[in-house]
Amino acid sequence: MADYIIRDARVEDCGEILQMLKELQEFCNNWGPLKLDEHTLRRDGFGEHKFFDCAVAEEKKKEESGPALVGYLLYYWAYSTSAGRMMVVEDIYVRQSNRTKGTGSALWAYVTKVAMEKGCKRIQWIVHDWNTNAIKFYKKLGAVDMCIRNGWLVYNLDADAMISSLAMLTANKQ
Ligand SMILES: CC(C)(COP(=O)(O)OP(=O)(O)OC[C@H]1O[C@@H](n2cnc3c(N)ncnc32)[C@H](O)[C@@H]1OP(=O)(O)O)[C@@H](O)C(=O)NCCC(=O)NCCS
Repeated sequence: MADYIIRDARVEDCGEILQMLKELQEFCNNWGPLKLDEHTLRRDGFGEHKFFDCAVAEEKKKEESGPALVGYLLYYWAYSTSAGRMMVVEDIYVRQSNRTKGTGSALWAYVTKVAMEKGCKRIQWIVHDWNTNAIKFYKKLGAVDMCIRNGWLVYNLDADAMISSLAMLTANKQ
């Protein structure tokens, strides 16, 4: 029987979620410095204007030494003009010593139920091409690579690029 439970994250979990987020960043060592802190997680996950939701896997034997949380899945809501309501998975992470025991699957099942209850018609996320274990995990779910199937490319503007693009877009318009 599983020695963890899956539940919604609580505000007091933010410190440990942040710690796991750092571990995930180390795992993906090309991410650069972590820009989030516990205050930001508390505000954006549990404040007046929520930007994300999170499920966690918690060890049942909490009093023993070692961290109580063994994994998390952080997600948020979005809207697709082709599918309607959808969930975006930002991170899934299971601590090293707990991997390949079904914890990731249990987290995924938990949030899939949440997505279905909310009427979502799609769950979407991105993954690094070198992360073969995660890709195996997603393929087992039956997930489709949209870059291959539909030729998608993933773009973003970081904070500096937002400022410079806005300056460029609004130059000479006043
Ligand atoms: C990806 C991750 C969340 C999977 O969690 P997990 O608890 O280890 O996964 P599960 O035990 O539920 O595995 C489910 C299926 O995924 C596949 N899988 C998971 N880990 C695997 C591995 N190391 N090698 C091969 N297949 C693997 C298998 O098909 C497995 O099914 P099986 O047990 O019947 O073979 C976990 O490995 C992890 O946290 N990795 C580091 C962080 C990461 O890569 N996150 C994703 C970033 S996009």
